[in-house]
Amino acid sequence: MVEILPSILSADFARLGEDIARMERAGVSMLHVDVMDGHFVPNLTLGPPVVKSIRKVTKLTLDVHLMITDPDRYAPVFIEAGADQVSVHQETCPHLDRTLRMIQSEGALAGVVINPSTPVATLDEVLDLADYVLVMSVNPGFGGQQFLPNSLRKVQALAERRERNKGSFRIEMDGGLGPDNIAGAVRAGCDWVVAGSSIFGSEDPETTVKRMQQLAREATAIRV
Ligand code: DX5
Ligand code: ZN
Repeated sequence: MVEILPSILSADFARLGEDIARMERAGVSMLHVDVMDGHFVPNLTLGPPVVKSIRKVTKLTLDVHLMITDPDRYAPVFIEAGADQVSVHQETCPHLDRTLRMIQSEGALAGVVINPSTPVATLDEVLDLADYVLVMSVNPGFGGQQFLPNSLRKVQALAERRERNKGSFRIEMDGGLGPDNIAGAVRAGCDWVVAGSSIFGSEDPETTVKRMQQLAREATAIRV
């Protein structure tokens, strides 16, 4: 089953608990949490205390996306704060194998993320290790950017490789996704679809989530 992951980056931080409760009512099971450090990406967001506060108000799976230059140092802190799964950028990890194993040993699922300019082939040696791969469909740093269609080919390549090697990693996509293009992402092979502005920027975020869930179900039914 395809999951829709609301990205809280586009929620109202002054009413985060309420926005999360709305997402629970819409029936999601996972939340996407963007951590940016102002170095790896040109924006700053939130740190472990916010994750700790979110953990107290929800049982949803917390998917923490680290857009930071030193994920080895901070991944354990986010796991301690309540992250269930943590993804790190391939571009920030010279010892990616070690980093993914470290996250798993700390008790979380380990994901690896690739930017739009990073080829899928750079992950060849870790696909049996990673619990999930996140394909960025925008250049990371901001919500509300336009979807980059080349990322669909990367999802397809990962799905083919998974099929061929009987792999078990999940495929996630993040950036510029919403009701208009979710079907293509699901048909390409996405299991987890992140969406921020298309949900929280819509008139009725709950209805938008439900619509995306329905579109995902329909697209799964015709996935080849
Ligand atoms: C971008 C973040 C995304 C962002 C997506 O750097 O990683 O998770 O919240 O926002 P939308 O869905 O608005 O593109
Ligand atoms: Zn993200």
